[in-house]
Formats: sequence, structure tokens, C-alpha cells
Amino acid sequence: MSLRLAILASGNGSNAQAMFDAVERGALDADIRLVLSNRPGARVLERAAAHSLPRLCLDHTLFPDRAAYDRALADAIRGAGADTVALAGYMRLLSPDFLAAFPGRVLNIHPALLPAFPGAHGAADAAAWGVKVSGCTVHFVSDEMDCGPIIIQACVPALQDEDAGALQTRIHQLEHRIYPQALQWLAEKRLSLKGRRVFLAPAGGALAEAPAQALIWPPLEAGF
Ligand code: GAR
Repeated sequence: MSLRLAILASGNGSNAQAMFDAVERGALDADIRLVLSNRPGARVLERAAAHSLPRLCLDHTLFPDRAAYDRALADAIRGAGADTVALAGYMRLLSPDFLAAFPGRVLNIHPALLPAFPGAHGAADAAAWGVKVSGCTVHFVSDEMDCGPIIIQACVPALQDEDAGALQTRIHQLEHRIYPQALQWLAEKRLSLKGRRVFLAPAGGALAEAPAQALIWPPLEAGF
């Protein structure tokens, strides 16, 4: 059954765009019921308009507190008939009451290999730290920021002659691939939780693929 999806984004919305595109090419089985932003003028709202998708701006500055805002948010999502929430660059914390309204159905993308470099500047923080490998994470959202069970991660080498922006761009491109995939697994009901570990059921009963080759960066030289 299709995911009935609400996408929440605060800004550019390139991850939301990747979801629109994945739905349109038939890779992601989702019915996008609502694209919502907390910021008037956010580019994501233009992107949604270009795809004729239902969209709404709920400006958080017009609400007295987080509880009131999150109640309005939950009402809008339920009102649109969505039962799954994808945070796509949504730069606000969600209250426990909001999460309780959509248990196990709120996902987030983060531009670092969690649990390293949580927070609002994950990609830049990792680059400034001097990591050799970084990447991105799609996870279920829990009460604690950037702490929920991990569904998928992708990593890239950090090249010594590139700046933080270039690394961030390469990570962003990976985000656009792994987030729609994670949502499709959810649509196919192939994700299950044991404690904080997420298990992926193989597709059509096929055996899981062999693990991909290790990424070691800088690469090992002969003899190692
Ligand atoms: C993405 O890189 C996403 O991982 C990040 O915001 C960006 C939004 O880009 N999210 C976080 O940092 C959450 N802590 P987009 O608007 O182009 O999709």
C-alpha cells in the first residue's frame, strides 16, 4: 500500500524534490498528501507548486510556543490524510506529543554519519573536524535529536583538496538517493525494529546481498 506521506522542510527542499521525482518515475510508492514548511517563501513550497502538490506554510513565529505549533502541525498532517512524515531539512525540534501522534512513522535525513556530528551543521562540523570519511543517515525520529534508530547510511571520502562546501554537495547528492529508498522500504513494510536496531527484510525472499567493499580513505597502499 502506498505511503500517505507528509514532507516537512524549512528551506531549499532538494530532498523533497528527490521524493517527488522518485514518486513520478515509479520508484517510490507514495501518495504525497502534503508538503509543509515552517518558513514563508521557502523554496520547497515553489517546488511543490511546480508538481501541483498540496502545500502549506505554517509560520512557527506566529504561534505562542512549540506545543501550540506542533498541535497545528499534527492537525494539518492528519487533515491531509497522511500517516507518515518525512523530515527533509526541517530545522525544528518536534515535541514528544507530535511524535506520539505518528509512532514509528517519522523519518529524518541528517548530513553526517550519526551518531557523529548531530545538530544543525552536521556536514560542516564533520569537515571542520577533519574526518576522512563522512556521509549521511536516514533514521527514525525519537524524542532525542538525531538519536533515533538508523535505517540506512551512505559514506563518501573527504578529499584533502576540497573545501567543506564541496564535501557537503557530494553528501547532498547521496541523500537524494538513500532517503527515497528508505521510504520505499517503509512502504513495502520491510523495516522492523529490535531495540534500536533496524532490520531490513530481503526483497521477495531473496538473500541479502554480500556486504559492499570497505571504504578506506586515504586508500591503503601495496602490502596492507
Ligand atoms: C540536508 O542536507 C539535510 O540532511 C539537512 O538539511 C539539508 C536540507 O537540504 N538536515 C539537517 O541538517 C537536519 N539536522 P534540502 O532542503 O536541499 O533538502
